[in-house]
Amino acid sequence: MKDGGRNAFAKQYHELVGQQGDLDMNSIINPEIFRLLGDCRGKRILGLGCGNGYFSFLLEKKWAKVIGIDISSKLISFARETAKNMKSKTEFLISDASSLKILKGQTFDSIVSNMAFMDIEDIEKTIKECAKYLVKNGVLVFSISNPIYGISERVFDKETKKYYLKTEKYGSNISIKNKNFGTIFHHRPIGFYLDALIKNGFNITAYQELSTPYHQGEIMKDKALISYKKEFPSFLIIGARKE
Ligand SMILES: C[S@@+](CC[C@H](N)C(=O)[O-])C[C@H]1O[C@@H](n2cnc3c(N)ncnc32)[C@H](O)[C@@H]1O
Repeated sequence: MKDGGRNAFAKQYHELVGQQGDLDMNSIINPEIFRLLGDCRGKRILGLGCGNGYFSFLLEKKWAKVIGIDISSKLISFARETAKNMKSKTEFLISDASSLKILKGQTFDSIVSNMAFMDIEDIEKTIKECAKYLVKNGVLVFSISNPIYGISERVFDKETKKYYLKTEKYGSNISIKNKNFGTIFHHRPIGFYLDALIKNGFNITAYQELSTPYHQGEIMKDKALISYKKEFPSFLIIGARKE
């Protein structure tokens, strides 16, 4: 199973997100995902690309019955270790999200994928699997980095004193090595995700563009950067209901 360099990066990532997620996840992304999921009590929820499992444990705290799946065996071993220490009932499995045979026909009320769809190599098959494993009217919620980033460069223009986004290839599907983490992520235009959802019988129920007030772990002070980040939101959250 190709893990896109995740095993090599697993310990660093585990330390970065801890048990609450990083600053952006904890304060901006996660509350919105919980809002879209609604009442979790007693629901069967699948976490795809669950990493070290921290978000699965937050779901369990909201009384959901959770299975977390990740392609990285190292991240899953961190998740299992935490589960053991917490006496958690959440189950963690190693699998590629695009082939969920390991679930042996189980179904779920909701599927959540938090900041993982852009890291998953075959997203069309993954969305097809989501449709297969969700009950009728089941909900898929996923967050991703805004695809305008990763393929582009932030440039400052001294004359206008503004930041601009310099980009060349928004419309293509491209796989890129993350400069900071060494992991591979897959750029696809937003329409690619929406098209895959529609083709697999999903109705799109939410589309959120979220800006962050943070830069490199600190609240931003640079006015030009603040306005740039407002114009180009860092994260997208998409909600879809299976017909
Ligand atoms: C940015 S991390 C997010 C992890 C976690 N959801 C979180 O919020 O901390 C992306 C995750 O996707 C996982 N991943 C990448 N490709 C995958 C695949 N094909 N199947 C399952 N998980 C995958 C990685 O191992 C990694 O844990």
